[in-house]
Amino acid sequence: MPEPKEEIRQRIDIADLISEYLTTKPAGSGSFKALCPFHNEKSPSFYISRDKQIWHCFGCDKGGDIFSFVMEMDGMDFPTALQFLGKKAGVKVDSKPQKGQGEYDKLREIHALSTVFYQTVLHKHALGEKSREYLKTRGFEIDLVKKFELGSAPDNWDTLTVYLKKKGITDELLLKAGLSKRSSSGNLIDRFRNRLLIPLRDPQGRVVGYTGRLLVEQGEKTGPKYLNSPETPIYKKSDILFGFAFAKRSMRQLDAAIVVEGNLDVVASHKAGVANVVASCGTALTEGQLLLIKKQTNKLLMCFDSDNAGFAAAQRGIQLAQKLGFDVDVISIPEDIGKDPDDVVRNNPEEWKKLVAKPIPVMKYYIDRWSKEVDPTNPRSKRDFAKRVLDEVVYVKDMVERQHWLQIVADMTQTDVELLKTSVGATKKPDVVTIKPSEKPKKPTKLTRQQKSYRFIIGSILQDEALLVDLKDKLKPEDIKDPLWSEVYKSIQLSYTEDVDPNSTQTPIFQRLRSHWQNNEKVEYLKALDAALVHAEAMTTDMTAKDLRNEVDRHIAFIKTRALKARKLQLAAQIRQAEQAGQSDRVRELLQEYNAFTITSTG
Ligand code: UTP
Ligand code: MN
Repeated sequence: MPEPKEEIRQRIDIADLISEYLTTKPAGSGSFKALCPFHNEKSPSFYISRDKQIWHCFGCDKGGDIFSFVMEMDGMDFPTALQFLGKKAGVKVDSKPQKGQGEYDKLREIHALSTVFYQTVLHKHALGEKSREYLKTRGFEIDLVKKFELGSAPDNWDTLTVYLKKKGITDELLLKAGLSKRSSSGNLIDRFRNRLLIPLRDPQGRVVGYTGRLLVEQGEKTGPKYLNSPETPIYKKSDILFGFAFAKRSMRQLDAAIVVEGNLDVVASHKAGVANVVASCGTALTEGQLLLIKKQTNKLLMCFDSDNAGFAAAQRGIQLAQKLGFDVDVISIPEDIGKDPDDVVRNNPEEWKKLVAKPIPVMKYYIDRWSKEVDPTNPRSKRDFAKRVLDEVVYVKDMVERQHWLQIVADMTQTDVELLKTSVGATKKPDVVTIKPSEKPKKPTKLTRQQKSYRFIIGSILQDEALLVDLKDKLKPEDIKDPLWSEVYKSIQLSYTEDVDPNSTQTPIFQRLRSHWQNNEKVEYLKALDAALVHAEAMTTDMTAKDLRNEVDRHIAFIKTRALKARKLQLAAQIRQAEQAGQSDRVRELLQEYNAFTITSTG
């Protein structure tokens, strides 16, 4: 029996796996390319090698195998990726907790137990009657309730606490999970009581906390309308988006993400068949939350309440998203239809679908809202309005579109549009400059021509190991004037054994070095190896073996000429130094070497 990791590797093809997430295009002999999901780009630099079962992006320098792909893509840790892909491949993976994983697993397990408990109360128990009634008034049917695993916290002091303690959960863990708290008398009591319970999930869909809603609209309230779990080791508020695990696939399919304010707005949206929707769990949208979305799509549709708090939250969220390079539009709900998506769906689910399909530009959203407050007879009010719009219009990158909004403001305030344009230029230039750098992730330093030649030669060897016989005398590791590539080349040479039976099924050098460096966590070497292979695969598709040899020779010649030139320059400098120091013997020695070069080389 191979270990699960290897068995999973054998059963899952990397190109198939990645094409479930990205649109891939063939790029020659078993290679595929795609737009990289980990950085912004317009032409594909993300390559997949089916032959070697690896991926590599030449744009952002990320890469790896099937495991690292789902880890990057879905923010999983390795054990989770192993479980996830194991399930996909039908390979059993022992879920023995890893070192340090114990507590996290335990906390998630407690939440899994509680979720079942709260659901049982909701569906089967007399104590759940009030919650069942409440759900009816909101129009959430059973399928929807089950999908989100909604539950009910009974109107008692410690039902859950007692239940979990019977299951052997310690007081310490109950407190740590945030499900129990200490009463003034020192006993443990339930945090959530007499509420509809809505599980909060991490990006992989595991329950990590709850939000509990009061079962009354008005009247005698006990506590806030929504009560949330406190932050725990598994629940970091700023990194959790409500509904994200249910929305991922749809976000990718539709290439857009809708952000709403309320958790139950997300549930309602699913009722209408709109699944690419998340809520920020009652906090301002954070960068962490937006970056989760960014792995799925670059298009954001904001739908916030039209009250002042909602508008302020929307504006902050829009600005942050724009700074992160999102393309943002707004879903605006006309006042006569409702105040939030839940309202809209309750009236008519089709209406929500229609609104979602017709988002409006951010600038129109702002102008519509602020223009209502303008007093056309008051110059100061007109000026304030223009200023607000100008502050936002700098985020519109397209100049034609920018002109369009400026013209509208000019018309509304009866101001000359040229004057407005100069104000934008004068007041807001610095902002545009400051948002630009954070839009794109840092690009890796460009390879020099020599480095490209090293990469090509090494990639070619990895494809055709027989090349090494020929290269043994032609190219020495010290001919490679780059520590990283030189070391990679040396390792390849050392891994090669000429006297191996040509019919043997010896593991390719690529595979051997890869697992060796993976075990030693030599990330730089791994990346260089992958980059070389993937690059060579894509470059040499149409080449015959002979073409390939010629091409390799050409690169070697180039490397050597360059090295020679560098050495000559170095010699010349040393000669000058020696002359100045009056070391005539040394000068003679150096000159000899210098002249030897000039005679043997033409370059
Ligand atoms: P709203 O008051 O707009 O609630 O708060 P809502 O989503 O429309 O809720 P329903 O439809 O009356 O049930 C918007 C969001 O702000 C957070 C919640 O996430 C809520 O969904 N919130 C609100 C809290 O966290 N605590 C509160 O006390 C109130
Ligand atoms: Mn609501």
